[in-house]
Amino acid sequence: MKKVIYPGTFDPITNGHIDIIQRASRIFDDVTIAIAESPIKNPLFSSSERRTLVESTLRQLKINAKVTVFDSLLVEYVRQQKASVIIRGLRAVSDFEFEFQMALMNRKLDENIETVFLMPRDTYSYLSSSIIKQIARLGGGVKAFVPAHVETALRTKFFPKLPTKARVLK
Ligand code: COA
Repeated sequence: MKKVIYPGTFDPITNGHIDIIQRASRIFDDVTIAIAESPIKNPLFSSSERRTLVESTLRQLKINAKVTVFDSLLVEYVRQQKASVIIRGLRAVSDFEFEFQMALMNRKLDENIETVFLMPRDTYSYLSSSIIKQIARLGGGVKAFVPAHVETALRTKFFPKLPTKARVLK
């Protein structure tokens, strides 16, 4: 059974990530979503909040995948998990250069680990967690791009004083 790791910061999980997770879980039997602490990105959500958001998403969509948090080198973590495949999403040509560099560096660090790229649905090709946070921070609706509980979490972060009902935009 091939165990695969889908790493990312997931700050927060978006429909684009979900699309990749669904594709990966159709191909592989054992998918682990590995949430990187990524302190360098100064995440809005703590790693345990990000983990909870991903776990709720998987539960709601009945996707069979595991969720973990890591703070080491990715290849080290992949080895520790006894996996040998890293899944990455390629949204657009602009992702390629960075992904290519990362895949080759990871291969240099460990020849036995392969990176497999999956392409999300084209309607998600412009999505990123930063753009979602930017819209939500300014009070815009992000319902089309993230699950409802993620939108609520964003509004709770940015507008903690709003009554609970007002945290969900149309
Ligand atoms: N749909 C929508 N958005 C997507 C997406 C998809 N399918 N795939 C990626 N994105 C977005 C992410 O949300 C992220 O948005 P943001 O920059 O606005 O937050 C952006 O694209 C970049 O994502 P990604 O390339 O996955 O970066 P990341 O920071 O989330 O994850 C790690 C990168 C964690 C995999 C990488 O830093 C890592 O491996 N870290 C561990 C340390 C290590 O080993 N470093 C050496 C690597 S050679």
